[in-house]
Amino acid sequence: MRVQADGAQLHVHLRGPEDGPRVLFIHGFPLTGAMWDAQVECLADKWRLIVPDLRGHGASDVGDGQYAIDFFVDDMFTVLDEVSPELPVVGCGLSMGGYILLRAFEREPARFRALVFADTKSTADDDAGRLKRLDAVRKIRKEGTAAYGAAFVTGGVGATARAERPEVVEAVKAMIAANDAHGMVGAQLAMAARTDTTAALRTIQVPTLVIVGEEDTLTPPAVAKAMADAVPGGGRLLPIPKAGHLSPMEAPDLFNRGLRDFLESLP
Ligand code: MLT
Repeated sequence: MRVQADGAQLHVHLRGPEDGPRVLFIHGFPLTGAMWDAQVECLADKWRLIVPDLRGHGASDVGDGQYAIDFFVDDMFTVLDEVSPELPVVGCGLSMGGYILLRAFEREPARFRALVFADTKSTADDDAGRLKRLDAVRKIRKEGTAAYGAAFVTGGVGATARAERPEVVEAVKAMIAANDAHGMVGAQLAMAARTDTTAALRTIQVPTLVIVGEEDTLTPPAVAKAMADAVPGGGRLLPIPKAGHLSPMEAPDLFNRGLRDFLESLP
């Protein structure tokens, strides 16, 4: 379906029984909702899956290209108002999707009945991180999205998948190449300006799962453990062997088993 947000129409993929418990999947940068395809196939028997493309990504409009994490949050709230107006949802976000999810929780916790953070972190960028993003912006502007994608997979996909699952590498590259350069620049600048949401982790009162690929070098296992430990009572930590930063694509069977077990365990 298409959802009208502020200045842009969003593409939202919906699957699963209309009366099923709702799960909102927020993709990472610079991907699209299609990165969750394996999870959608696994869970559509029972859960109502809400899978948007963020503005500037996939089949959603680019809008004015001026993004902030809080604008992405606004978009997610618009989608939820349309698709799940009364029921709280399970939120599941990977990397940038995790930044958006935790900020959304910080702003409006009552919208979420459980949280899943995959290959993400709660801290903001340090100075070196911000400068690196500006280099990325220059690269996207100068060389385009395909060149950016070819470089991204060298760290964005784990060593095992790079060696053994060329189809995953190709799918990631194709998703990035098809994205709009203005959207990707807008998302980089949004991430550079994001706030630190670590304090929000300490207020979580709903079941929380933190998943991380053991080969993730961008948001490594120690960062995931610190996130899980910050949740009062302890979040559940699920390390995925032989997977990197894109664990749901690289090791979908293990990821899906862990996610399904978690969803089944919810009250
Ligand atoms: C992502 O996968 O969303 C990005 O690696 C996040 C980031 O650049 O911080």
